Amino acid sequence: MTPAPGRPGRRHTARTSPVVPPIYQTTTFELDDTAYADIQGTGGLHETWYSRFGNPTVEAAAAEVARLHGAARSLMTSSGMAAIATTLVTLLGSGDTLVAARQVYGDTDDLLGRDLPALGIEVVRVDTFDLPAWRRAIAGHRPAAVYGETLSNPQLRLLPLPAVAEAAHQVGARMVVDNTFATPYCTRPLELGADVVVESATKFLAGHSDVVAGAVTSDDVELHEQVQRRVITFGGCLDPHAAFLVWRGLRTFEVRLARACQTAAAVAAVMATEPGVSHVRYPGQPDHPDAGAVAEAVMPGPRGAMVGLVLEGGDARALAVLRRLEVAVEATSLGGVETLASVPFNSSHFNMPPRQRLEAGIPPGLLRLSVGLEGTEALVADLRRAIAATA
Ligand SMILES: Cc1ncc(COP(=O)(O)O)c(C=O)c1O
Repeated sequence: MTPAPGRPGRRHTARTSPVVPPIYQTTTFELDDTAYADIQGTGGLHETWYSRFGNPTVEAAAAEVARLHGAARSLMTSSGMAAIATTLVTLLGSGDTLVAARQVYGDTDDLLGRDLPALGIEVVRVDTFDLPAWRRAIAGHRPAAVYGETLSNPQLRLLPLPAVAEAAHQVGARMVVDNTFATPYCTRPLELGADVVVESATKFLAGHSDVVAGAVTSDDVELHEQVQRRVITFGGCLDPHAAFLVWRGLRTFEVRLARACQTAAAVAAVMATEPGVSHVRYPGQPDHPDAGAVAEAVMPGPRGAMVGLVLEGGDARALAVLRRLEVAVEATSLGGVETLASVPFNSSHFNMPPRQRLEAGIPPGLLRLSVGLEGTEALVADLRRAIAATA
């Protein structure tokens, strides 16, 4: 039989726009003169022609992240670590110095302590809350970039961002911040002086514990394109299916965060006087070490959905409490609709020896809660039951 004329199965364009962006599950796009001109002009950064360079579903997710930050551009990466590593390697080369916070996520700590020095980059560490130390280190080392977490994992200390960014800019350094814990619901770092925001979209942005993704956000289009070129050459692009889940999660970002932050503040206030809890770490509590001017500048409204409880009895007690929780799920990660609980000593910061954990401000007995949508009553009852059972 003669084959039917034309290419089979390729007429799929809708006459009207879909309300939800389609998942463009295609590696490649038909080339035309505009695409060739972009390939030959910019290296193919702007046109849609190959999905490692750009894909409409991935760009739909990036546009939402940029909107939340009020930023010119965002680009999506395959994970939060891809966002962090790709950005830092774009900004730094052999012989350069990075001044970075001591209080950071465990794998970022490995990147700063092991991988960047192996590339010939000097990394100088400073306590994230110590502004005079930032100023000294930045003026003394004249770094190419400065790095910190707006709200640190897991100490929940705040970076005095406006003043640190000002010190960075005085020596011509770029200010890069990881805003994963604070989220753009509570903090928009570009408005506080940051040049680049890196985020694990795996967490609150996507919000359903079902996708690993990252985002890099900036108002500097040239810088954005420099990072984009490294996403292209290092290959850390986001898959369109994953991007769709990020986009879908972002549809409810504001309502999820409103509820989670409100619950977190209420749980923190109740737990502050609970027998068995030696203290609570929450940026909205009046006894938080950064309460006052720093907290008001960096988190002017809600103070996030992460809560730290320090249990009397150290890590063994914290682990025992964790094991007895019935509403909160014993799992690493954060930012999902379900409350996740973990103890950093055996998960996010297991690779730090106990003394280094102490120096980084991670006390024995710390239980980290990523508050979800279950509501205050259910979570307080769950914690109370678990704490009482381990008394
Ligand atoms: C503050 C922070 N930054 C970055 C990451 C890395 O994100 P991902 O797991 O998406 O690579 C994490 C992961 O837990 C994190 O907590």
